[in-house]
Amino acid sequence: MSNPLTLSVIKADVGGFVGHSHMHPDLLEEAQEQLERARLRGPLFDFHVTSCGDDIGLIMTHDQGVDSEAIHQLAWDVFMNCTDVAKGLKLYGAGQDLLSSAFSGNVRGMGPGVAEMTFVERTGEPVIVFFADKTSAGAWNLPLFRMFADPFNTAGLVISPAMHAGFRFEVLDVKQGRTILLETPEEMYDLLVFIGASGRYIVSHVYSKTGEIGAASSTQRLSLLAGHYVGKDDPVCIVRCQGEFPAVGEVLEPFSMPHIVQGWMRGSHYGPLMPCRFADANPSRFDGPPRVISLGFQLANGRLIGPKDMFDDPSFDESRRLCNVIADHLRRHGPFEPHRLPMEEMEYTTLPDVMKKLAGRWSAPHEKLDQPAKIPTSA
Ligand code: F6R
Ligand code: MG
Ligand code: MG
Repeated sequence: MSNPLTLSVIKADVGGFVGHSHMHPDLLEEAQEQLERARLRGPLFDFHVTSCGDDIGLIMTHDQGVDSEAIHQLAWDVFMNCTDVAKGLKLYGAGQDLLSSAFSGNVRGMGPGVAEMTFVERTGEPVIVFFADKTSAGAWNLPLFRMFADPFNTAGLVISPAMHAGFRFEVLDVKQGRTILLETPEEMYDLLVFIGASGRYIVSHVYSKTGEIGAASSTQRLSLLAGHYVGKDDPVCIVRCQGEFPAVGEVLEPFSMPHIVQGWMRGSHYGPLMPCRFADANPSRFDGPPRVISLGFQLANGRLIGPKDMFDDPSFDESRRLCNVIADHLRRHGPFEPHRLPMEEMEYTTLPDVMKKLAGRWSAPHEKLDQPAKIPTSA
């Protein structure tokens, strides 16, 4: 295929089964039927519907380019119809991520997470699509850095002439809505200054030095969009593999170290990101711990050949075990940091209300020690 192809991955939480843990099959069926119609009539070439935890994911190929109104409208309509199904079943949090009732040309900024890229399909085009649940945009910073910039992870950076020049990272500052392009290995330390703070600076795209797109991730921060806590971002990420990009095994390798991400219960805790099989993407323990699944596809003239469940491999068993050990240890901290997020990250929860309520009760140290304590007595 020599015409540019666009791969769009759009996801939303439009209702959980049970609670926020999983997806009801009726929603998947509804999305499947609607996208099948769009494949027969256009504009889709192919699609795959999936879920990770309580999020429904649409993986679509077409020739409409990124940010296409037709594709975004289609995804929005699917999510609206799935919301109706969710409401019929009284699923939990039906329509949760749809922050507006009316579509206005693009789902970006309206709640759903989006990762898209346009490229000319190579002779062999392996791509991996990652979906995470119970975590925030920014969870991909560390793995993307490892894949595309860390020679201890990606042997190709040292060994392969096709990758030796390094890559270019585009980083979004979510607070100021601005982006910067940084080159690796030349500006690796500058890059790490920012992306190590993954709540604010998010790797949105990675390009080869020749300008070929290698990775795209969703950068939507739901709390910033809604102005209050609605649910976690539960981001998605697309990575092209092999040749001038990291090999499949180099793309998966970062997940063998379960890094600690923001999310988990009430989006307010740190926890390890567990790489799991499709069948295990049901975060139930303390609404977690956070999960990541990986869907491998070969593209064939826009057809999605797959998915292959890439974490369905016993060599990730030790990472999963380690996740459970880390999860146990963190859980024992209960409401204490570093399990609970620091104060500035809790601004979209009830904590500011508690601060406001008690604002007048603070005084200089010892000032009130000579006064009798005002302890309410029972009747
Ligand atoms: C985290 C998540 C859940 C909910 C929790 C409370 O992303 O979705 O941990 O925050 O189950 O949910 P509500 O407030 O809907 O009762
Ligand atoms: Mg939910
Ligand atoms: Mg979710």
